Amino acid sequence: MDASPTKILMVCLGNICRSPLAEGILRSKLPENHFIIDSAGTGGWHVGQSPDPRSIQVAQQNGIDISYQRARKFELADFDTFDIIYAMDTSNKKNLLQIAPQPQAAAKVKLILEYLPDNQSLDVPDPYFGNHKDFEFTFELLDKVCEIISKNLRYPNY
Ligand code: 4NP
Repeated sequence: MDASPTKILMVCLGNICRSPLAEGILRSKLPENHFIIDSAGTGGWHVGQSPDPRSIQVAQQNGIDISYQRARKFELADFDTFDIIYAMDTSNKKNLLQIAPQPQAAAKVKLILEYLPDNQSLDVPDPYFGNHKDFEFTFELLDKVCEIISKNLRYPNY
């Protein structure tokens, strides 16, 4: 395996509901010496805040601590820093592609649910205005796709 860690960024709108979960879930499935995982939002309303308490709770119920995370806004330098940028929905992806400075930057942006075959939608639904069940659904969806992504990353030629 490559000596330098692969750097992965999860991106949603607010960086308080979906992408903090995606960050925590994927990190829990990969060896930390080979992968750096972070998350950010395309919007800046919640910068500096902890994840939504409902995301913290659903992660904790599944044995994952995301309470230490703090929201930040996506910045242009992230296109250089990260190797892969997973957008949580088509709107997040569109926002990222609009500001990508070069084709190489745009090529790093992936829609995360494209890696979950046969899923009904390509968008991780935003649970912000929902209830605990919506957060559980978001967790389960992200857990399923992160399991596939983590296998692809660990065994790229399998
Ligand atoms: P997220 O959810 O993008 O999954 O973090 C949202 C959180 C907050 C807002 C929108 C989406 N907001 O408009 O404040």
